[in-house]
Amino acid sequence: MKILITGGAGFIGGNFCHYMVEKYPNDKFVCLDALTYAGNMETLADILDRQNFKFVKGNICDTEFVDQLFAEEKFDIVVNFAAESHVDRSIQNPKIFLESNVIGVQTLMDACRKYKVARFHQVSTDEVYGDLPLDRPDLFFHEDTPLHTSSPYSASKASADLLVMAYYRTYQLPVTISRCSNNYGPYQFPEKLIPLIIKKAQNNEKLPIYGKGENVRDWLHVLDHCSAIDLIIHKGKVGEVYNIGGHNERTNLEVVKTILKVLGKPESLISFVTDRPGHDRRYAIDPEKITKELGWKPKYNFDTGIVATIKWNLDNQAWLSHVESGEYQNWLKKQYKD
Ligand SMILES: NC(=O)c1ccc[n+]([C@@H]2O[C@H](COP(=O)([O-])OP(=O)(O)OC[C@H]3O[C@@H](n4cnc5c(N)ncnc54)[C@H](O)[C@@H]3O)[C@@H](O)[C@H]2O)c1
Repeated sequence: MKILITGGAGFIGGNFCHYMVEKYPNDKFVCLDALTYAGNMETLADILDRQNFKFVKGNICDTEFVDQLFAEEKFDIVVNFAAESHVDRSIQNPKIFLESNVIGVQTLMDACRKYKVARFHQVSTDEVYGDLPLDRPDLFFHEDTPLHTSSPYSASKASADLLVMAYYRTYQLPVTISRCSNNYGPYQFPEKLIPLIIKKAQNNEKLPIYGKGENVRDWLHVLDHCSAIDLIIHKGKVGEVYNIGGHNERTNLEVVKTILKVLGKPESLISFVTDRPGHDRRYAIDPEKITKELGWKPKYNFDTGIVATIKWNLDNQAWLSHVESGEYQNWLKKQYKD
């Protein structure tokens, strides 16, 4: 079996490459990544010399390049992680999100059709469902919850999901989609909440929290996301959407306070900043379908997973300092200027 993993130099794709290369030594894996600011070869350093792994630099929007790669490699399965993934960046510059997250998906699916790939799996997000009210803890996102997006990022991901289902209906392309809640774990780029807070708290810097920190996210360890995708591509039903989540809801403030407690830092570092425009209030996934139909269960709970993640960040300072390029520093200053 030959599997293409796009976006494999990023956070979740990188963890998925490690997970799959280790678990399936007899399969072959090709990682395709454009190495944007979020992609980092150091994330793949441990597996670059494995016989069943190969890295290729390229853009999923480049039709000619994608066509040539598919012609040469003859993939059985394509798992698409490649995307612009940060909501704040999508508010600053939506265009690149439409290019990578929509046109890129169309380009990959056209190649899948042409070269008769047995499965195209689109890694989507719970953000396509919009948000839930804070005062209704009984409500959850189900696979048939209507798409109702808030940011250019989530709108681009929802557009891709619609296109994927259209390719299934129109061309009978064998597709699956997974919609996961917020991930945390090793190799996460330090613009996202958890690694950003760990880094700043360690340096005794102010911790920027949007609004009053009341927004609720449903956290899942990245390796639990990987095991869910592994199950879907091997046992999932073509044409189906699977929600992935572990019922680990926390307010942003709770997450920050937990990190401060583990690091032994004072809560006085917390600094509330102007809220993100259109900020989603609460995400909460109902994972019943993947649990019942495919037997998926998460291994981590948030309380142990966050301690392991803090430790990983403290132990991997070299990786962190290398991914923080000049471009990232400029973005950080602009984003949190107040
Ligand atoms: N991070 C989360 O909490 C989360 C939750 C649910 C779903 N997702 C989805 O999972 C996927 C991966 O997310 P992530 O957090 O690992 O993102 P990330 O930003 O860390 O990584 C994205 C990777 O894609 C690559 N990439 C971007 N545009 C590309 C292009 N045009 N061609 C080739 N490569 C390109 C980047 O170089 C990077 O390596 C995304 O599709 C995202 O929407 C993320």
